Amino acid sequence: MTRTAPDVRREDAIGVPPARPTLVPAHRYYSAEFAGLETERMWPRVWQVACTVDHVAEPGDFFEYRCGSYSVLIVRGDGGVLRGFQNACRHRGNSLCSGAGSGLREVRCGYHGWTWDLAGQLRRVPNRKGFGELRLHDLPLVAVAVDTWERLVFVNLDRDAMPLLDYLEEMPGDVAWCRLGDFRCYATMTIDVDANWKTIADGYSETYHIQTLHPELHRCMDDVYAPQRIWGHTGKSEQVYGVPSPQLKEQLSDAEVWDAYVSTQGALMGVEEGTPLPDDREPGASVADVIAARTRTFAASRGVDLGWATTDQVMRLHQYNVFPNMTLLANADHLTVMTSHPGPDPDHGELVMLLWSRIPPGSPRTKPVDVRMSADEAHPGLVLTQDISVLPGLQRGLHQPGFTHLTLSNEERRVINMHRNLERYLDLPEAERMTGGESGA
Ligand code: FES
Ligand SMILES: [Fe+2]
Repeated sequence: MTRTAPDVRREDAIGVPPARPTLVPAHRYYSAEFAGLETERMWPRVWQVACTVDHVAEPGDFFEYRCGSYSVLIVRGDGGVLRGFQNACRHRGNSLCSGAGSGLREVRCGYHGWTWDLAGQLRRVPNRKGFGELRLHDLPLVAVAVDTWERLVFVNLDRDAMPLLDYLEEMPGDVAWCRLGDFRCYATMTIDVDANWKTIADGYSETYHIQTLHPELHRCMDDVYAPQRIWGHTGKSEQVYGVPSPQLKEQLSDAEVWDAYVSTQGALMGVEEGTPLPDDREPGASVADVIAARTRTFAASRGVDLGWATTDQVMRLHQYNVFPNMTLLANADHLTVMTSHPGPDPDHGELVMLLWSRIPPGSPRTKPVDVRMSADEAHPGLVLTQDISVLPGLQRGLHQPGFTHLTLSNEERRVINMHRNLERYLDLPEAERMTGGESGA
């Protein structure tokens, strides 16, 4: 007798419930000492998304990536080689570049004029004789590991770090069907928020909050059968859209599911709020089929052929988490990447959204538009605005003296996995580690 593999798509988001909740000490979300440990032991040793290939496509293109106090200069050299350097002059430490731009021929410090070529070799030192014997080749810019995966540029301050592809584990193979290289980043949005970088990242690492924080979304997505995987540094959640949540008490009509989808994500299929469910659908077509068809039609209007994509490939969101701070959300027609960074103190951080659209293969690319704004100014759609609005209250609550630890469900195991990795990088003593969460009998 042959045994068929279990249907992972019918797995729920909880998986196998643990014997007890996982308890995470709250202070790691606001303690300056803990943030100091992160700065010392974690951030300089992990691969982080810095920008996109479209930011640094041509020789002379550069991009300054900042994460907390760290600053990395990414520059495309004359031979087309992409390099990264710690953004510090070797004379007295001045930052060499800020922001992003093009046409860089050399890297010249604006303070006293020390100048490097784009390969990081020191070429000129004004009044050099005043230093005595100073050899130019002793003072190159300090290199940082740089690598790309699809259209994302990653950096790691640790030049001995494991290769990026090893770090990403199962993710590249798992999402290969989606051909992410055909997407173009058209904008990045950096939003300053009153919350720790982990508070921000936790928000895109679980689907447990959807039933409460996102009532509109709850009417058009399945947050119950949303299976999760944990690989190591990385993990995954799958969510099907265009269906009502099985948790809803009321029976929704197809038109109501359509309306909920339009109000939360209608832009993905070029449909404005208030547009009714089309009444010309084929017999047997589900609402998800109708939404997928409209999405394909909208893509075709931009010259993008989605004829290859099934309804499931259009409507199932594949969400990946990469330690420490990144999520990537993709389906056949959609790609968004989000990261979070430390701010000036542990109670502040920034949410960075990289926004993409699929383009016809071979079509020209342009540099993304990079914008920065406060949380009050940002309105990145109904659902994300809800996600952002909860952050300051969450951060404040974490400080309250009676709130000693977070109590986490297995449904939040991508959050737990982030802490598991964090504890490993920080090498926390046993007494400071999270507790509970043992697997059930
Ligand atoms: S600090 Fe850069 S040249 Fe002096
Ligand atoms: Fe959310």
